[in-house]
Amino acid sequence: MEDIIKQVEERRALARLGGGQKRIDAQHKKGKLTARERIELFLDNGSFEEWDTFKEHRCVDFDMDKQAKVPGDGVVTGYGTVNGRLVFIFSQDFTVFGGSLSEAYAEKICKIMDHAMKVGAPVIGLNDSGGARIQEGVASLGGYAEIFQRNVLASGVVPQISLVMGPCAGGAVYSPAMTDFIFMVKDSSYMFVTGPDVVKTVTHEEVTSEELGGAITHSVKSGVSDLAFENDVEALLAIRRLVGFLPGSNREMPPTLPVIDPADREDFSLDTLVPDNPNMPYDMKELIIKMVDDADFFELSPDYAKNIIVGFARMEGSPVGIVANQPMVLAGCLDIRSSIKAARFVRFCDAFNIPVITLVDVPGFLPGTAQEYGGIIKHGAKLLFAYAECTVPKVTVITRKAYGGAYDVMASKHLRGDVNFAWPSAEIAVMGAKGAVEIIFREEKNDPVKLAEREAEYKARFANPFSAAARGFIDDVILPHETRQRVCRSLEMLKSKKLENPWRKHSNIPL
Ligand code: HXC
Repeated sequence: MEDIIKQVEERRALARLGGGQKRIDAQHKKGKLTARERIELFLDNGSFEEWDTFKEHRCVDFDMDKQAKVPGDGVVTGYGTVNGRLVFIFSQDFTVFGGSLSEAYAEKICKIMDHAMKVGAPVIGLNDSGGARIQEGVASLGGYAEIFQRNVLASGVVPQISLVMGPCAGGAVYSPAMTDFIFMVKDSSYMFVTGPDVVKTVTHEEVTSEELGGAITHSVKSGVSDLAFENDVEALLAIRRLVGFLPGSNREMPPTLPVIDPADREDFSLDTLVPDNPNMPYDMKELIIKMVDDADFFELSPDYAKNIIVGFARMEGSPVGIVANQPMVLAGCLDIRSSIKAARFVRFCDAFNIPVITLVDVPGFLPGTAQEYGGIIKHGAKLLFAYAECTVPKVTVITRKAYGGAYDVMASKHLRGDVNFAWPSAEIAVMGAKGAVEIIFREEKNDPVKLAEREAEYKARFANPFSAAARGFIDDVILPHETRQRVCRSLEMLKSKKLENPWRKHSNIPL
């Protein structure tokens, strides 16, 4: 028996060493942690239960059967806890064949995904891989597809989070792409479908890996990545924080925390947040920070489509999703990027029982050929569709402008908004006063005095929340300083909300 125990220990030690000390040192030299160090840092101390430590690849081509096999074969998998809550995790080990994916390696990932679905817990993927194991050919491609299929089946059932911490290229990008959130580490990770060499051959463009698919590219230009972190440690700790907002599965409510910040806390500085001049911007983040518990806001995609803000926070200890127009960027207009960004976020919240708070200051959809040619009709409809389909509690606060179609889109009463508030500064109308009178009173266009009179008339009539409130489209006009209290009460009232959409195989969101 002693011999067998020794053998097990030796094999475990071999597995822990991955591709060997030299490759571990090379990994560290690049500023990257190893697959196991990442898991250790991410999970609660001592909570990791590793599976398939001894699993090996079965490849015999290219003399792969003659080389010493690394137990575990390039990916560390298992489960553990984050602040006491169960999560499943896989961590690709770049020190073993560059973290490349073999058939056996894919089976390990599929196994933890299947278990996560059975028990209802998030799947966290730490990606650092050279892609398909070239020696295995189609067996590896099959392995990827098995993972893709599970990504799709798990979508909306358990949260899936990808952290890209090294290379992720070719078809391999499509597994993270189908998960709920993608995070990247600056300078050490990249994602692209075709690398710089192929790009150069085909399009004659010269780009570096970093320019083509680095963390900044994807968190600023493409929107593929939700956040870019400075290093592995910062990234892993942030994702621990994110997990704290999410339920284990769609069968659960998100986890609550004890309430320290009083629900009836008033903030009188909000009474002067909206400037007197309706054309002056202000920072919507100030309202978010002052409204939510302990000023704690986990913002997603802060550098992409900045005209809309999305992220998680808590109200009276319960997680909420926040969607807010940002008047500081493009005057808060909705455009293609912001519509897609917010639509995806609303759908995530809806899938995982997270109420949505919508803060509205939107002058309309962004005009222009770039938007029309880019398909704003279809893309704007995504956000409309997402809000209309969403059945979780929806509380909306219009702080200033709510014009035109964008008024309807932003969780209006008509899209089953549960509680719709407006600040006294709200202007709810088909369009701004100037544009409106120029159309209705076109014949007076050469009479600036008359036009100014008409504009003032229109403003007095529509640039306020009362005509919408008179119809019941706004449940109450609230004072800015009482926003937190009124929203908290609404969410409390909505805790037992039950609403279902008609049965169907699935809806057909305008993709
Ligand atoms: C097998 C691989 C490998 C791979 C890297 N290695 N990628 N082994 N299959 N795909 C091995 C290397 O041989 C090397 O082994 C070790 O991993 C580290 O690689 P290096 O090249 O020394 O590291 P680095 O300089 O950091 O470069 C990393 C890299 C590069 C950029 C990822 O290795 C590379 O370009 N690899 C090939 C990428 C690729 O073409 N993959 C297939 C893409 S197609 P030793 O023994 O020397 O340490 C694909 C399709 C997926 O993935 C389709 C899904 C549908």
